[in-house]
Amino acid sequence: MRKTLVAANWKMHGSKAFAEQLLAELNSGLKSGECSTQVVICPPYPYLGVVGEAIGKAMLGAQNLSEQPSGAYTGEVSAEMLLDCGVRYAIVGHSERRSLYGECNELVAAKYAAAKAAGLIPILCVGESLEEREAGKTLEVVAEQIQAVIALGLPNTWQGAVVAYEPVWAIGTGKTATPEQAQEVHQFIRQQLGEAGAETQILYGGSVKAANAAELFAKADIDGALVGGASLKADEFIKICCAAN
Ligand code: G3P
Repeated sequence: MRKTLVAANWKMHGSKAFAEQLLAELNSGLKSGECSTQVVICPPYPYLGVVGEAIGKAMLGAQNLSEQPSGAYTGEVSAEMLLDCGVRYAIVGHSERRSLYGECNELVAAKYAAAKAAGLIPILCVGESLEEREAGKTLEVVAEQIQAVIALGLPNTWQGAVVAYEPVWAIGTGKTATPEQAQEVHQFIRQQLGEAGAETQILYGGSVKAANAAELFAKADIDGALVGGASLKADEFIKICCAAN
C-alpha cells in the first residue's frame, strides 16, 4: 500500500527567520492534525541546517544536486554533502532546472543515479509544456524523460525513488491539471515503471492548493503532491498534507 507523500518545494524563497517561523507553525499544525501523510520539506541549500534542526516528524529534501560525487565543480553540491546535512530526498529534473538551466534528460538521469548511489531518495520530475500537450505529445514527452533513467540500466532502478508529474503549464499558473488529466498521465507513468511501478509513489505537482488536493489524492494513481507556492503558507500546506486522510 503506497503512503501519501507531500513534498514542499520552496524554490528560491525564504530566509532563516522565515524558515524558523514556518517550521514552528507546521510542526504544531501537523502534530495536532490527524495526518498520516509523509511530509518532505525542500528549502534552498543555505537553510537545510535550520530546517533540519526544526523539522520534527517531517523529512528533509534538497531541490537539486550535482551528478558528480566530488571534485572541482564550483558552486555544485554533491549527494554525499546532502546526506551529511541530514537530507533524505532530492528533487531531480524540476522543469525550472530543465528550462532555465539547460538540464537535458541525460543530465537529469545522471543526477537521479548519483542520488540513488548515495542512498538519497530521488524525486524525478517529468512533465510536458503547454505546446507539447496541445500537440498531443504529453505521453511521448513523459516516456522519453522516464526512458532516459531506464537507459542507465541501474539495479532496481525505481526502488527507493519517487516520480513527480508536473505539467509545466500548471506550475505557478493557478491552472491545475484536472484530476482526470493527472490520473491519465500517472497511470501511464506507473505502466512505464514496470513491476516496480506498483510500489512507487507518483506525486502530482502544479498549482496544488488546499481546495483541490483532496480530489487529486482521491485518484487511484496519485500518491501525493509536490507543492510550490502553497507550501510557503503554513495553514494552506497543512490542509494539503491532511487532505488525503
Ligand atoms: O515543484 C513544485 C512546483 O513546481 C509547483 O509549483 O507553485 O504550482 O505549486 P506551484
